[in-house]
Amino acid sequence: MHQVRVNWQIKAILPVVFVLLAGLLLFTIATVSLGGPERHAVIMVAGAGAVIICGVSIGVLAYLIQRPMLELQEKMALISGGNLDVAVSFSRRNDEIGDLGRNFNYMMLQLRESRKEIETMHRTQMSRAEHLATLGELATGLAHEIRNPLAGIAGVIEIIGRDLPASSPARAMVKDVRLEINQINRILTDLLETARPHPPQMMRSNLNTTVEHAVMLARQQVLSHPIKIELEQAPDLHEVEHDSDQIHQVVLNLLLNAVQAIDGPGTVTVKIGERDDCAIVTVTDTGRGMTDQQMSQIFRPFYTTRNNGTGLGLSLVRRIVEEHHGHVGVTSTLGQGSTFEVEIPFVAASVPAEVA
Ligand SMILES: Nc1ncnc2c1ncn2[C@@H]1O[C@H](COP(=O)(O)OP(=O)(O)OP(=O)(O)O)[C@@H](O)[C@H]1O
Ligand SMILES: [Mg+2]
Repeated sequence: MHQVRVNWQIKAILPVVFVLLAGLLLFTIATVSLGGPERHAVIMVAGAGAVIICGVSIGVLAYLIQRPMLELQEKMALISGGNLDVAVSFSRRNDEIGDLGRNFNYMMLQLRESRKEIETMHRTQMSRAEHLATLGELATGLAHEIRNPLAGIAGVIEIIGRDLPASSPARAMVKDVRLEINQINRILTDLLETARPHPPQMMRSNLNTTVEHAVMLARQQVLSHPIKIELEQAPDLHEVEHDSDQIHQVVLNLLLNAVQAIDGPGTVTVKIGERDDCAIVTVTDTGRGMTDQQMSQIFRPFYTTRNNGTGLGLSLVRRIVEEHHGHVGVTSTLGQGSTFEVEIPFVAASVPAEVA
């Protein structure tokens, strides 16, 4: 049903105007037609009546406006206590206060719906997190189970390789098997480190040595490819506080990514240097490069463009470097190559931990 709108100001003024007009009319009649004491009596009655009616009108209006305000306050208190199932009763009024009530009730409806959506989302996320945690436990359990027999296989392969005559063509195959075992081991290490990270064991030591070990390991992996890995060390570099196993893993991951980005012949250059209070390791390749869109994704766990990649390498790199209070950055040009830069402070404790 269509309601006639009446502004609350008009509602307030109308009775006053009515009373004033009635008083004026009575006063006019009294002055024109009556005389003496009768005239006085009419004027007195009209004046008193006007005052009473004005008082009552103002009281009623104050009540009409004050009541919704009080109700609003009460409902606000309920909302701040977490109860969103509230609505105001003055929403049926046909003035601005009614508008306020309707808007308020509509806002509460929206809030209730948003809360329902958030709760549903939260429940989905929780079940996904639980799912991932179970998967993580399974994966780490599996990784442990695989590692032991793998170590056995590696030992046997080592012995077989040693016993083979130098001219045997099987020697090349044994070498390939060893490289494959190294690769499986690296993936298992990444998986375990992602699922059960342990804090870095910081020691002051020579970063050149840590990087050199990773370069040597990567060179073994590319013997059969036309790829050169060059190393430019910094002989005068101060000792850097770091966990050499973890930084070894960082550089190896960057090196293997660089190698995997090169189709055909190419070069990977590893440079060690320093800037301000940090040691810098850069790994530059002449590979396929990346688009900006790819670059914004590569540090996310499980992001990979390789068929047999796990996508854990770079997320681990970033986590380890950040635990060293350092920073990892990347620049890349599609078709020309990429550069990853790792920055590690000489003294980790001198850098305040980043606020998450
Ligand atoms: N040097 C690089 N040049 C071009 N693309 C790269 C380079 N390094 C990383 N990427 C891209 O980033 C993705 C993620 O790298 P990341 O090391 O995290 O995983 P992955 O190498 O695919 O798998 P793995 O877990 O075996 O390391 C790669 O799949 C690749 O698309
Ligand atoms: Mg990788």
